[in-house]
Amino acid sequence: MTDFAATRAMFDLPAGVIYLDGNSLGPLPRAAAARVAQAVSDEWGKLLITGWNKAGWMDQPSRIGDRIARLIGAEPGTVVMGDTLSIKVYQALASALEMNPARRVILSDTGNFPSDLYMAEGLCRTLGNGYELKCVDPEQVAGAIDASVAVLLITEVDYRTGRRHDMADLTMRAHAAGALTVWDLAHSAGAFPLTVAQDGADFAVGCSYKYLNSGPGGPAFIYVAPRHADVARPALSGWLGHAAPFAFDTSYRPGAGIERMRVGTPPVLQLAALEAALDVWDAVDLNDLRTASLALSDRLIAGVESACPTLTLATPRDHAQRGSQVSFRHPQGYAIMQALIARGVIGDFRAPDILRFGLTPLYIGAQEIDAAVAILAEVMSRDLWQTPEYQVRGRVT
Ligand SMILES: Cc1ncc(COP(=O)(O)O)c(C=O)c1O
Repeated sequence: MTDFAATRAMFDLPAGVIYLDGNSLGPLPRAAAARVAQAVSDEWGKLLITGWNKAGWMDQPSRIGDRIARLIGAEPGTVVMGDTLSIKVYQALASALEMNPARRVILSDTGNFPSDLYMAEGLCRTLGNGYELKCVDPEQVAGAIDASVAVLLITEVDYRTGRRHDMADLTMRAHAAGALTVWDLAHSAGAFPLTVAQDGADFAVGCSYKYLNSGPGGPAFIYVAPRHADVARPALSGWLGHAAPFAFDTSYRPGAGIERMRVGTPPVLQLAALEAALDVWDAVDLNDLRTASLALSDRLIAGVESACPTLTLATPRDHAQRGSQVSFRHPQGYAIMQALIARGVIGDFRAPDILRFGLTPLYIGAQEIDAAVAILAEVMSRDLWQTPEYQVRGRVT
């Protein structure tokens, strides 16, 4: 059994805060601060440029990729780190489209994160030639997979509602129709066990700063199924994805396997933070994590529904369709969230009316859920959100 009291002790959370936003930005793992300080002073400070070899900086993206592979149910040697998730969406999508040249449609859904849709639009514009993004409601995806679809581009867990798609089923349907799949695991990796290889995903991408706790701006990961790894051609063909970067050839030759999905210089300090953050996962059984996460989300739903009748549940009740967050709708959602944050309960707001609470058993327990429900009940019953300062929107909501 995973010892969640032990994992909790591995995080540095401010006193008096109930942190329910690890689905947006994970908190600071204690070891990460020390590891980054060491990378700064001992590696950068003392090794200078020799750190690329001596401190293993150049191998970091695939070394860490292998640790992420374990968390997402992927084979060793199939995941590499780098860039932001938006860039990795573009990278995966461009390769997948090129591998299905007779077709022109990217199929996605309206529950996808806007950046994924924007990247797809931009790619279609660059490619011209009739490429188009088709976006349907999440419930319509399965029925919309037809012989025109080149690539199915889906975010497994909806960032607003926490609704989870069935990766194995949609991938099977896509393959049966001759389409490839790109899965965005931003709200999945570290949220529950994944079986990316078993489910047959062609490409998968995700970020490290949410449930994996790499810190603000932490790099993304990309997975390419082994059957495609030496076939997929990177559209963002940077020098570190070249077969021989230090040969400085004037034309591009893709590197072997997943290495070709690298683009440029890796973010060494962020990767140092991530490497330390991943140590937390060494003692975590992902099935225990899932059981505990569902118990927390059930508890939050029951508590809020009984204490705050004006909030409407936006997250599926069915466990199979739920990620590791719970969302409620309310027309004054933004002000309510500000009132909560002012009282130490940190979640976030997503337009137009969603209050989001990310739940991770690594550092949240039943006690925090009950305390958060009690504070939310007070905010609602006494209309504490009506204070004018809670109506003022920050740049990040
Ligand atoms: C599902 C999803 N895809 C893509 C992104 C964009 O990630 P990035 O800002 O790292 O490019 C996010 C950011 O939260 C996301 O939630």
